[in-house]
Amino acid sequence: MTIYKLPDTKAFESCLNNKNTHLLTLANRTGMQIALSDYGARLVSVLVPDKHGTLVDVVLGFNNIDGYIHAKEQYHGATIGRYANRIAGGHFQIGNTSCSLAQNNGENSLHGGPEGFHRKVWDRQVSLKKQVDFYYVSPDGEEGFPGTLNTCVSYELTNENEIKIYFRATTDKTTVINLTNHAYFNLNGEGNGDILNHYIQIPSSNFIPINSKQIPTGQISPVEDTSFDFRVAKKIAQEINSSADQIQYAMGYDHGFVNESPISTPAATAYSEGSGILLEVFTDQPSVHLYTGNFLANDQGKSGHRYLKHGGFCFEAQHYPDSPNQGHFPAVILSPGEEFQHTIIYKFSVKK
Ligand code: BGC
Repeated sequence: MTIYKLPDTKAFESCLNNKNTHLLTLANRTGMQIALSDYGARLVSVLVPDKHGTLVDVVLGFNNIDGYIHAKEQYHGATIGRYANRIAGGHFQIGNTSCSLAQNNGENSLHGGPEGFHRKVWDRQVSLKKQVDFYYVSPDGEEGFPGTLNTCVSYELTNENEIKIYFRATTDKTTVINLTNHAYFNLNGEGNGDILNHYIQIPSSNFIPINSKQIPTGQISPVEDTSFDFRVAKKIAQEINSSADQIQYAMGYDHGFVNESPISTPAATAYSEGSGILLEVFTDQPSVHLYTGNFLANDQGKSGHRYLKHGGFCFEAQHYPDSPNQGHFPAVILSPGEEFQHTIIYKFSVKK
């Protein structure tokens, strides 16, 4: 049995692009602990009690900064920006201005480009041992996006075993924005097999279908009578091997669900019978993207196990993919004088 603990803070002390990197830790009154790195403003570890009261690290990741820098899968736990998920052809238009982005997913731009926010060393500030604020100023034109973007991502750990993530940003030129968190969860513990036995519940009655290049077709489709109907909790395994095109295009689930829940009710939940751990996600964003780790690439994780296909899943609360090219999707434009604000809450408990 793996005994989980937070990584050694020294193993995260380095210097990248003339900036020092650190590991920051928070603990609450019930014993939950999290670790964060300023490299990518990311979640490194989340230790929560299972049904026996034993702490389990439910987030995939690495024990040292080099693990994150050299991983084949770059997005573990990271803040994703400026634009989470894909922008078709790495191209979009704002008014009369045409923008060409750095391409890193065939011809598409994925997760802000190869040097997106997950690769930046953010400034940091710790308040009252319960909140960490990360700051990053993205220069005008970075990865092709217009405007200087002043970004702040705050992580708060509450005594109710919630991780509250607040995203805020302002710009000096009209731009597009879609920020999220890319933690991979395994509620049986990171590295402890796959997540196919987890139950998922998503109250959405509609999802966002994709084409063979994983770009939204533009339709919004009912989940009724499809593998995407999670309105009643079901195991991920149940239909993940369906021969339906939507599943085949992504080699599993990699789709946005239209979020119909106010921030006070869960937009998505996951539960493992093995550990008894329940994860609920609350958000004010228009979509929750379920990604079942279809392209996890054999990196060796914190407890020495390899992260194989379906070794973790992500609930990415965000705007719809490719919105800058799909005028009927909720708008992702940020203009000077406005503030982008977005909240994600990951709440952990044990289901009795
Ligand atoms: C995307 C996947 C992509 C993965 C990369 C997910 O958020 O939806 O398509 O392959 O990130 O880790």
